[in-house]
Amino acid sequence: MTSTQGLKLVDRDESGVDTAFRADVLAGLSQEPKAVPARWLYDDAGSQLFEDITQLPEYYPTRAETEILTDRAGEFADMIRAGSAVVEFGSGSSVKTPLLLSAIDPAAYVPLDIAGDFLRAAAADLAAKFPGLPVYPVEADFMRRVELPEEIADMPKLGFFPGSTIGNMVARTAVDLLRNMRETLGEGAQLLIGMDLIKDREVLVAAYDDAQGVTAEFNYNLVRRINRELEGDIPLDALTHEARWNDEYARVEMHLVTSRDISFSVAGKSFALTAGESIHTENSHKFNRRTSNMLLLAGGWDPQTRWLDSEGRFSLLLAEARPNRSAP
Ligand code: AVJ
Repeated sequence: MTSTQGLKLVDRDESGVDTAFRADVLAGLSQEPKAVPARWLYDDAGSQLFEDITQLPEYYPTRAETEILTDRAGEFADMIRAGSAVVEFGSGSSVKTPLLLSAIDPAAYVPLDIAGDFLRAAAADLAAKFPGLPVYPVEADFMRRVELPEEIADMPKLGFFPGSTIGNMVARTAVDLLRNMRETLGEGAQLLIGMDLIKDREVLVAAYDDAQGVTAEFNYNLVRRINRELEGDIPLDALTHEARWNDEYARVEMHLVTSRDISFSVAGKSFALTAGESIHTENSHKFNRRTSNMLLLAGGWDPQTRWLDSEGRFSLLLAEARPNRSAP
């Protein structure tokens, strides 16, 4: 059972250029230090490369989170209200969502995604795996407040945001998203959210700079995309993938560092970098118990429970949107 709301969310100009992509890239390359928002890493090629990353020996987060979802199913069933509608922010990854749905026996599943094709494919997949479970995909930008389908109005809501995707946002953006999730889901809702943990620098850097170079390709793919879609001529041969631990902000950063002075143009605008400078392409924030709780609270969510994998590498947190109360 599926239903779709048809909406065109990608805005293109006469020549077919994604105008938001162009605006973000031009703005990001015009500032110092240069940066491009990480969401643009995920075109079709980038999404496939990310799937490959999740299989790498160095990239532990996906395996660690999957282990929690598998081993703690019984505890989810105890803590999550029966008959909940599961609202997933981002369309379901093939493995994690079925694990959750099997654990809690929900009344409906609502995947939210801006990528309509992925959304419909994921929704159809899920509907086939769970016959009888109503699936209501919603094509929407989940960074904003979303209107949920009428059909789930009276069900308890569980938001699901796995993968430590929240870690790709700076604190201000993460808080905006959490507050919008609270608006979308309503008071009394629960949220199950993955957050990767702070650990040895070597382990973290290796997870974002693997020996096979798949993460490097993922990073280079952004440059290929800019050159192809925005008539760019960024010299890829001058750029090297780098993963850096930023201890001040507790995050792994991906950069493209130039080995020589370069100048190039994108969408008719000229840019230059001197040797050693970089384009910053991603942040992946890491958390501990206190910082994850603080982030949830700042976004209007009261932490209820926290689960770790057996090696203590990754956390899955359950929080609740309690009524606002006055505090000292
Ligand atoms: C999008 C959060 C799942 O930051 O770990 C993986 C993306 N970037 N390797 C992360 C990513 C480089 C990933 N998540």
